Amino acid sequence: MSAPKTLQDWLQAEAPSSELAGVITTIAAACAEIAKVLRTAPTDGLAGATDHTNVQGETQKQLDVVSNDIFIKHIRQNAAISILISEELDEELHMQNQGRFAIATDPLDGSSNLDVNVTVGSIFSVLAVDPNAPDLLQPGSEQLAAGYAAYGPSTSLLLTFGKTTAAFTLSNEGVFMLDREAVQVAAQSGEYAINSARQRFWDAPTSTYVAQNIAGEEGELGKRYNMRWVGSMVADIHRILMRGGIFLYPLDSETTAKGGRLRLLYEANPMSLLLEAAGGAASTGHGRILDVVPTDIHQRVPVIMGSSAEVARLDALYAKAK
Ligand code: F6P
Repeated sequence: MSAPKTLQDWLQAEAPSSELAGVITTIAAACAEIAKVLRTAPTDGLAGATDHTNVQGETQKQLDVVSNDIFIKHIRQNAAISILISEELDEELHMQNQGRFAIATDPLDGSSNLDVNVTVGSIFSVLAVDPNAPDLLQPGSEQLAAGYAAYGPSTSLLLTFGKTTAAFTLSNEGVFMLDREAVQVAAQSGEYAINSARQRFWDAPTSTYVAQNIAGEEGELGKRYNMRWVGSMVADIHRILMRGGIFLYPLDSETTAKGGRLRLLYEANPMSLLLEAAGGAASTGHGRILDVVPTDIHQRVPVIMGSSAEVARLDALYAKAK
């Protein structure tokens, strides 16, 4: 039996360049530090909200701010990274160096779950930029790398450079160890994730898709479905990467004015790259998420992602509704 592989072993073999490997090492170090802070946050007085609202209009939790600061601290130590886009920062942060990489991150996704000790995560995307004329509004298909850390019973790190998706687990010694070299998302699934309390806002394709699922083996699909919604995108997508399913935050009548609920650069794009590299799919209902050309760093987008046959089924309902 060969020795267990560390993240560093894997990066040495898989990273397209040593600079990019260094960028991932920096992000992984930030995630490992966040995992450590989260473990004892309630007794360290770090639970609860601040009196600040972020650019998204959401009340920041103390741990949102702490996680964002941890990302900034680590990124400042890597001169290859010149720009940080964060959910917690109104504008992108320029590091005043000549680094050829930009990071987009949601440093602590699902933070409404912190009070109840349910899985949260950090999502990140790596872009190539010219430090003197950075183009941050690149479609997700241009991402050099993407991933997330899920802080659950164990801390998982999922990573892709666009070809395969690998999974790592953080050891007690603080080292990410490879546990799956090429995650595969099952094409078919009987599990879907949507906030069904929003049913009154849904459009016809979403309503039809969910109604077909609920009808189960007595309905036209002749198949039973189950519903799961953690309320933390990282946790829901992690489940889908591990055992299939579909995650939905489609455009609905309440989110239309904003263009959707979830953010393109640091939520939808990295998750889409991870899922596609694992054989899954990611759509707005009208095309591939990775093809959307952003107009704003905090842009929102409709999200339909996961098992390819399920995404195709909903895409077909959108095409029929045109
Ligand atoms: O970042 C937004 C987010 O917290 C996601 O992590 C999660 O999937 C979603 O919002 C939850 O939305 P809702 O509040 O509608 O359940």
